[in-house]
Amino acid sequence: MPSMAQGELKSSVLPNPKPPIASRFSMRQKIAEHRKSLPIASVEKRLIEEVQKNDILIIVGETGSGKTTQLPQFLFSGGFCREGKMVGITQPRRIAAVTIAKRVAEESDVELGQRVGYSIRFDDCTSSSTRLKYMTDGFLLREALLDPLLSRYSVIVVDEAHERTVHTDVLLALLKEVQRARSKHEGVQTKAGDEIGVKRNGGVLRGCQGRKVSPLKLIIMSASLDARVFSEYFGGAKAVHVEGRQFPVDIFYTVHPETDYVDAALVTIFQIHVEEKPGDILVFLTGQDEIESVERLVKERLEHLPEDKRKLLPLAIFSALPSEQQMQVFAPAPTGFRKVILATNIAETSITIPGIRYVIDPGFVKARTYDPSKGMETLDVVPASKAQSLQRSGRAGREGPGKCFRLYPEREFEKLDGSTKPEIKRCNLSNVILQLKALGIDDIVGFDFIDKPSRGAIVKALTELRLLGALTDDCQLEKPAGEQMSRLPLDPVYSRALILANKQFNCLEEMLITVAMLSVESIFYDPREKREEARTSRNHFASIEGDHLTYLSVYRESNEFLEKRKTESSEAKIDKIMKKWCKDNFVNNRSLKHARDTYRQIRGHVEQMGFNVSSCGNDMLEYRRCLAASFFLKAAQRQMDGTYRALESGEIVHIHPTSVLFRSKPECVIFNELMQTSKKYIKNLTRIDHLWLAEFAPHHYKTDDEMKDLTQEMESCRLKLSK
Ligand code: CDP
Ligand code: MG
Repeated sequence: MPSMAQGELKSSVLPNPKPPIASRFSMRQKIAEHRKSLPIASVEKRLIEEVQKNDILIIVGETGSGKTTQLPQFLFSGGFCREGKMVGITQPRRIAAVTIAKRVAEESDVELGQRVGYSIRFDDCTSSSTRLKYMTDGFLLREALLDPLLSRYSVIVVDEAHERTVHTDVLLALLKEVQRARSKHEGVQTKAGDEIGVKRNGGVLRGCQGRKVSPLKLIIMSASLDARVFSEYFGGAKAVHVEGRQFPVDIFYTVHPETDYVDAALVTIFQIHVEEKPGDILVFLTGQDEIESVERLVKERLEHLPEDKRKLLPLAIFSALPSEQQMQVFAPAPTGFRKVILATNIAETSITIPGIRYVIDPGFVKARTYDPSKGMETLDVVPASKAQSLQRSGRAGREGPGKCFRLYPEREFEKLDGSTKPEIKRCNLSNVILQLKALGIDDIVGFDFIDKPSRGAIVKALTELRLLGALTDDCQLEKPAGEQMSRLPLDPVYSRALILANKQFNCLEEMLITVAMLSVESIFYDPREKREEARTSRNHFASIEGDHLTYLSVYRESNEFLEKRKTESSEAKIDKIMKKWCKDNFVNNRSLKHARDTYRQIRGHVEQMGFNVSSCGNDMLEYRRCLAASFFLKAAQRQMDGTYRALESGEIVHIHPTSVLFRSKPECVIFNELMQTSKKYIKNLTRIDHLWLAEFAPHHYKTDDEMKDLTQEMESCRLKLSK
């Protein structure tokens, strides 16, 4: 295959071939050219007029047409950021918020964090001069706790609404209410703390922070062609379509089902690389583990290819990727190289990577499923929907005709679900219900959700929140614990762990580390082919008490290692030494870095709440008791046959082979994660004394009759709410 320069490659696939003169253009001119070439550019004027005319506008447009990067810039030029007002753009995914904000800052020729910025959990990059603010949908929900009328925003753009994340759904309902309240009080000049706000709970909330109340514009953006559901939800709101540009994509299926799709993906990557014309490859995988393992295997296999065939550059993109590495996927490959981008479903619609001509789609996605009757939430690898598969193949035809390789037989495609079920129908609701309660929304059952979650799921979440001490017996926000829990950007169980560690067990430092370590996907780097070696070299971290203590050792040891070197080296050098330390210890460097950042952020939050971060030193008994008191809802007891019974659901579960307790099989454990593959596995465990459960959660670990009373009480609480 002749190797081609990147410039030639582009000109052969772009609709308007660019002359080599393009290389003389300055960066700014190139960007201006790019912006002008996007399909959305030709309708700027019309879009601004529509936003002026309509308080709610739905914009539907093919992925890559320029909605997310351009519309906010149009709004800025169109005068929507006058008098210090902001345009807020929400994304379901952190990484999209970050990479797109960076791109828009670059396009606007401003420093990131100034006029254009982003805010995501654990990372705020905005300032008082920020006018275009990209953020996650969850972040805006939290912001509403402090400023219920979202008074700094003139426009809120809910992007990627078709994804229907639970936060997007809740946000849509909330924004509908905020918009109504702001129109009603339009023009009122408020003083800080004035009692104008969203009427809730019989009273009113403060919400204007000394600003003049002005109307709020809402824009809902979606990549799915079916805008009806949003239009109907917003009382027949106007929808406009932005024409996309799509070239034909040839779809290929495998003849037989693949037993190992990771291996099949690898084979396909190399076949494309060796046999097909230039153009980058995009592979859809399910998560960080899988991506990192494919990344490694591609690098290894490349070494066995002849020199002239080695010009393949694997790049990863997934949400826990440190931000300096996120942007690498967007940069053109070095001359003569082909990029192979290993992505999660983030690359379906949230971000568009230029240069892609080949898509490999194994047909899977990691998704949450929840069974409220058992209180069990699992993160499973499941088949993608038809809509997702179509979006994926579409990625190959953005700049010219492309090819998509689906790693399953054609007959399987017809069996896929049409679209993904909204997340609100398949997740544990305790987190959002706590948020709603903190926002003063009492009637959860009657709340105007776009798709109502089941009553069972709502009741279950209320029960759980009560058991965790976030709600009172009659389902009001418990003070201060419930309030504190709603303010921490964590799942309520983790917030509870921090509160207990602070108040009762004196191990806040350890619990902060624990929560940070649990918030990343995989701390250990576990190459399939070197499992034993990895296990041996990690032995010195392993604690007989369980995984939480093991993570604690990893964190502490890496910290000590870092501290020792901090004074003697530059930052870049420390990075390098740390990388080596991780490699030697089979620890995932990216994950550990992410955990360290997370630790810093959560620590900041709890300190702001007045917590004093103290450590229990080596008193691991107190720490384990704190784990039991926090995670008692996820306890499991060993049975005669060596399997475990989850006490809450009665389900039979197994200890995951990656757990340090896999062999020792203690009698009673608490766990943080349940995972379904061939069996139901529990992950992240610590050995506890089963008597602690009755000690810390007597209200829960009661006799069956008492449990029935509790259920009845909850039912009456729910009925009261729905009145
Ligand atoms: O939101 P929508 O899918 O309509 O498009 P977009 O995300 O605004 O992307 C518009 C264009 O910007 C695409 O051609 C992307 O390839 C390009 N882009 C980029 O080159 N680098 C980024 N970091 C983000 C977008
Ligand atoms: Mg977009």
